[in-house]
Amino acid sequence: MDYLLIKGPAVLDGTVAVSGSKNAALPMLVASILSKKFVQITNLPRLSDIDFTLKLLVELGGNVRMIRENNSISANIEFKDTAHCVAPYDLVRKMRSSILVMGPLLARYGHVTVSMPGGCAIGARPVDLHEMIMRKLGADIDVSDGNFVVKCKKLKGSEIVFPFVSVGATQAAMMTAVLAKGTTVLKNVSTEPETVETGHMLNKMGAKIHGLGTENLIIDGADSDTLPGTGDPIPVIPDRIEAGTYAIAAAATGGKVRITNAIPGHLEILIYNLRESGVKVDVGDNHFTVDAGSVKSIKPVDIITAPYPGFPTDLQAQWMSYMCIADGISTIDEQIFKNRYIHVGELMRLGARVKLSGTVATVLGNRKLKGAPVMATDLRASASLVIAGLVADGQTEVHRVYHIDRGYERIDEKLLSLGAEIERLREGD
Ligand code: EPZ
Repeated sequence: MDYLLIKGPAVLDGTVAVSGSKNAALPMLVASILSKKFVQITNLPRLSDIDFTLKLLVELGGNVRMIRENNSISANIEFKDTAHCVAPYDLVRKMRSSILVMGPLLARYGHVTVSMPGGCAIGARPVDLHEMIMRKLGADIDVSDGNFVVKCKKLKGSEIVFPFVSVGATQAAMMTAVLAKGTTVLKNVSTEPETVETGHMLNKMGAKIHGLGTENLIIDGADSDTLPGTGDPIPVIPDRIEAGTYAIAAAATGGKVRITNAIPGHLEILIYNLRESGVKVDVGDNHFTVDAGSVKSIKPVDIITAPYPGFPTDLQAQWMSYMCIADGISTIDEQIFKNRYIHVGELMRLGARVKLSGTVATVLGNRKLKGAPVMATDLRASASLVIAGLVADGQTEVHRVYHIDRGYERIDEKLLSLGAEIERLREGD
């Protein structure tokens, strides 16, 4: 197993290019199940979650051909008239988003068995909305041995009102309803860029989804077994969470970093908060620069996580590392995954002081962080530990780095190119 050795403090300086978005790529890969023609998806990031999803598609009977390019991969995917419509626990427990295959397999092949994912490090994470969608669209769904066993002759359009915004449930509903008979109305949906991109991809493949990017969607079902498909390559959008992580790292280290291949419009709330903290942010069309070189003292800024365009839960842990060195007290209110504070104990090992009360974390700033060995517990928690390690005096070892490899492409190389002293080592070396 690898770990990262970071020697701090660092001042990040230079340019970093953002990779394709993991959380857009996952539903887009799964959406390819619905296409009659092969689908080509480009700008996939080189991440373990992407490799895993491609293997899952092969397991389900897809023909998958990967083309490695310099810094990314493309995949050609084709699903024929028969498939192996089973996603067992062994696969789903390794990557929760595997549940997304349920809708498209059901819609195209009329039956599917998918294991229920169970909880994970960031909380219980129920999938009741996914179950509700299948029922509302007319499927029979049984729970047996921890699996959803789902069947339907022909799905029928329906009205689904979500009780709260769910990224995965919105994507699941779109991918199921596009082949239903008649019209489906989805209310209170996710407007996250990853969801909107998945919708655009479905439309390029022949779906009729109206209202993408708004809270309500109207889907005219295709009333056929497949979407006609497109031969055109479909690129994955840049990863806003990766971009945001480098932006926070630049601010926290008092550095100056130009972040390229990015869509700054997807990060308006982060850019606003960075400016509130006293940092200069210059925004271009597909790049932005965070300049904290002349910042004497970082202003504490309170955040509340919320669905897009609110502050992303996937940047909450990184923001906490930043606020540890702010000049005063700040609060974080985690409203998406209410227990997503597993990084707090590890940050405290580096000298952070954080008090937790329900969903609110009070971060006592003005801390001098000091390097220590810490343990990554999930993807974004690992990113917060890396940022804290860059800021801290001395050596920080971030163990269980496989968590970070799920979602940050070559993070050690990218940070090294920005001037950090960071090394990937093997446990026991
Ligand atoms: C997606 O997860 C992302 N994952 C997460 O990124 C991200 O944190 C999350 O959206 C929120 O932005 C992928 O895109 C693969 P949700 P998802 O359904 O779709 C509750 C990362 O680090 N809920 O929007 O699973 C749920 O428990 C990851 O990259 C139900 O109660 O999140 C949560 O409180 C982690 N029942 C809230 O909804 C359901 O059936 C929002 O979760 C579904 C969700």
